Amino acid sequence: MKAAITGLTHYLPDYVLTNEELSQMVDTNDEWITTRVGIKERHILKDPHAGSSALAIPAVKELLEKTGTCPEEVDCFICASSAPDYRWPSTAAIICDACDIRHAMAYDIQAACSGFLFNLNQARAFIESGLYKKIIVCQAEKCSSFVDYTDRSTCPLFGDGGAAALVEPTDDDSIGIQDAVLYTNGEGNDHLILKAGGSVNVPSHQTVDDKWSYIYQDGRYVFKNAVTMMTQTSGEIMKKNNLTLEDIDWVCTHQANKRIIDAVRQYVGVSEEKVICNIEKVGNTSSASIPIALHMAAQEGKLKKGDTLLLAAFGSGFTYGAMILKWADCKI
Ligand code: UT7
Repeated sequence: MKAAITGLTHYLPDYVLTNEELSQMVDTNDEWITTRVGIKERHILKDPHAGSSALAIPAVKELLEKTGTCPEEVDCFICASSAPDYRWPSTAAIICDACDIRHAMAYDIQAACSGFLFNLNQARAFIESGLYKKIIVCQAEKCSSFVDYTDRSTCPLFGDGGAAALVEPTDDDSIGIQDAVLYTNGEGNDHLILKAGGSVNVPSHQTVDDKWSYIYQDGRYVFKNAVTMMTQTSGEIMKKNNLTLEDIDWVCTHQANKRIIDAVRQYVGVSEEKVICNIEKVGNTSSASIPIALHMAAQEGKLKKGDTLLLAAFGSGFTYGAMILKWADCKI
């Protein structure tokens, strides 16, 4: 029994924030952002009262419709978000309420930008054990809510977006999630952190003055670790599964920086045509970045049933790892 992605959707808010517009907000320019990061534009949810759930609800509704799934059939719902609507209730509970899903074990996970792979691996365990049969893994990321638009070192990087995937059992061994190696090494904790809002630094005038409700990132340190950790786990999973470069049809990594994507590709040794990348138009949407890129590639007709995909993720924690996924008959 394998777990396969049988449906995939994504949602991006309408507003497009271009490098030109950002250049009028902070001391930056299109040339720097394009060459150092590879982003030209990102989508932003402008409504200050709408949270991350607003980016996932349309994706989940579309997923139910496209896969012909009734809300009451969904027995498990896992939501990854780096920017949950509230401390509680869970963002999963909010999304399920809006989508009429009332018979699922619904909950959030926190694995930062690695959320999609952590989500999928958890869904895989539930499917392989026989515990659940229709699982929605959802990624809801209003990243703009933790971005300081006066800080040029972080504000060009992030965009908002949501994605949802239906994961179901299959008897066909040639499709579905084949394997995953996922880790968390807390030595990275202080280098990529949102300090306020949790129980250590509860929101106060001080945390606002100190800008602790915004992302802090030690860019160079994070960059080096992102490359090393995604490269190592990609190599590890290929070796563990006796895969050579010829066996890999597509590589899709977390979309944080085009230079990181290029470096991982070069170290792993895969040719450029096999890389799925949408960073130029979407930016870094945290846990939603891999599923949005996959969905766009599928819509472009790139992904065929049986294709072997190498996925690699990295995020705050540091959370990181790689997965081998064989593309299924997926409703898009
Ligand atoms: O998704 C979670 C994981 N996150 C990541 O994987 C992100 C990892 N890190 C990165 O992608 C890169 O480190 C950044 C994109 C964040 C920064 O790029 P960098 O090439 O590492 O730049 P830097 O921080 O070393 O800064 C180089 C220069 C500095 O100027 P000086 O000190 O050399 O004069 C910065 O002040 O670039 C300057 N700079 C900018 N200039 C124009 C930094 N941000 C900007 C900007 N526009 N937006």
